[in-house]
Amino acid sequence: MRICMIGTGYVGLVSGTCFAEIGHEVICVDNDKNKIDVLQSGGMPIYEPGLDELVKKNVKAGRLSFTTNTGEGVDKSLFVFIAVGTPPKDNGDPDLSSIEQVAIEIGAAMRDYKIIIEKSTVPVQTGQWVRMVVERFNKHGSEFDVASNPEFLREGSAINDFLYPDRIVLGVESKRAEQKLLELYDPVDAPKIVTDIASAELIKHASNSFLSTKISFINALSVICEKSGGDVTKVAEGMGLDKRIGCDFLNAGAGFGGFCFPKDLKAFIGISAKLGYDFRLLKEVENINEEQMLRVVKKTEELVWNLRDKKIGILGLAFKPKTDDMRFAPSITIINALMNEGATVKAYDPVAMERAKKVMPDIEYCDNAYDVAKGVDAIVLVTEWDEFAKMDLQKVKEMMRQPVFVDGRNVFEPAEMQKLGFIYVGIGR
Ligand code: UGA
Repeated sequence: MRICMIGTGYVGLVSGTCFAEIGHEVICVDNDKNKIDVLQSGGMPIYEPGLDELVKKNVKAGRLSFTTNTGEGVDKSLFVFIAVGTPPKDNGDPDLSSIEQVAIEIGAAMRDYKIIIEKSTVPVQTGQWVRMVVERFNKHGSEFDVASNPEFLREGSAINDFLYPDRIVLGVESKRAEQKLLELYDPVDAPKIVTDIASAELIKHASNSFLSTKISFINALSVICEKSGGDVTKVAEGMGLDKRIGCDFLNAGAGFGGFCFPKDLKAFIGISAKLGYDFRLLKEVENINEEQMLRVVKKTEELVWNLRDKKIGILGLAFKPKTDDMRFAPSITIINALMNEGATVKAYDPVAMERAKKVMPDIEYCDNAYDVAKGVDAIVLVTEWDEFAKMDLQKVKEMMRQPVFVDGRNVFEPAEMQKLGFIYVGIGR
């Protein structure tokens, strides 16, 4: 089946490539000529494990191509996916102007029946707007359906998440679109939930908000554990084994970040307010997350006494392992707070340093974790990259000025770290 994927950002490129991988013919469109040039010449504009090879493989097989020409993509395809960015505006509401622009272009370009599908994360009721805009610019009076098919990809495991998802959500307004979309996803073995468009749009925001709530819950609980002598990792395990709760997303840590949870939470709070509901629960989820990042700074201060003129080493900058994404990374909040208190900061991340340099030009970047350890008064581990778990801790300790270790992701066992001579704190244990 023929697909046009408009937007070759993270979601569009991964989804387009995976659709090609399951046998469809995909044209990826982007108005950023540089990006299309890079892709056409075999380069990769984003970091995602396995994506480079998969793109090459499907281009070679003739199932995947790239263009800047929306008209060409729309013309050749039955399915037109909208996967352009919906970045937050200053007030937290998503900026939907790119979606509108694309809807105009699709309306003007289509000459026969199309299924126009929202892939980007959008507020509930966006489908209605897309329908209206396409209709207004529908020069040739072509038939079309609008649908919503939210994505649930996680950075770092996006290909696997696409090919082996927990579920596929299809929000449709006609039987015809439902049948075609079910056919499109037939090669993917997963439960398919067919709903109206508004429900599908809500499923995306509700899922991300619920997962954020789980994390803030366990982070709040980590404070109670610290004050009462409990161990949050054990409490999470004990809770998570109850199938109704589940073990996933119960890792207490230095707070959640990335371009999805913080942005989607804010957007959902905003949408709810517009619909006349004050979603207080989610406001508190945000507050707890903000506090959690700053608690890491407080813990560091408590162990080194004064932060002024102290040298602090940061391990991990990306918002989570296996990505170079720095957007809304907790490391930024933590490093800024440390520097505001007068500390100097050196840092290392296996892949995110180039991106980090753009957001934080004023810190020292190191070649590896041992370089970070050299002469520092404390190490703060912010992102749990595998290589940190494998460090020679004895060597790390010997290099430090003071053996203070703040483990923002509970990578290490407190008793072992103390045995090695570290002054160690984790989160909630
Ligand atoms: C998230 C969702 O998990 C995806 O399902 C969704 O498709 C995606 O957003 C999106 O809307 O595009 P992602 O942002 O890639 O995916 O990252 P996650 O793996 O969900 O992690 C988000 C943040 O939560 C990270 O900062 C991570 O460190 C933190 N986290 C996660 C915790 O602090 N504790 C946990 O137990 C789990």
